[in-house]
Amino acid sequence: MTIKEVVKHPAKVLTTKTKEVEVINEEIIALLDDLYDTMIEHDGVGIAAPQIDVGLRVAIVEIGDERDILEMINPTVLETDGAEVDMEGCLSFPGLFGDVERPTYVRIEAADREGRIYELEAGGFDARAILHEIDHLDGVLFNDKITRTYTEEEIAAMYEEMEEEA
Ligand code: CO
Repeated sequence: MTIKEVVKHPAKVLTTKTKEVEVINEEIIALLDDLYDTMIEHDGVGIAAPQIDVGLRVAIVEIGDERDILEMINPTVLETDGAEVDMEGCLSFPGLFGDVERPTYVRIEAADREGRIYELEAGGFDARAILHEIDHLDGVLFNDKITRTYTEEEIAAMYEEMEEEA
């Protein structure tokens, strides 16, 4: 388990489609653990293997009220529905925040670290985060989907408002 350096845009690994995992072995388990340590260190809500310079179809994301860690090995999107615009950021783009339109519902299939295939439905911000990470595995980055960028001043004002409400 290691905290890895986060690969920043522009780096070729970030725009390269990842390879499917063929065998879930110790290497893949270690990759999942490295992704976790790196995400926590950098206060992310999700991270994909290319962001730590690994070209495999593996990503993790925090979902639900308990912020459970969802491990996705070879995820595929089975179904999406709805559309909503909301703000996103990305560990590979420090300081960049922008509005991105995403489906409000997603159903995926993926494998966990035990090799069990699971299906999962998610909505709202969870669906957004899952789809952001699966995009990474296809070499697709959120900056290409941004319809409105936020300035640092706007971000600072938003955080202030959030703190006042809390
Ligand atoms: Co990202």
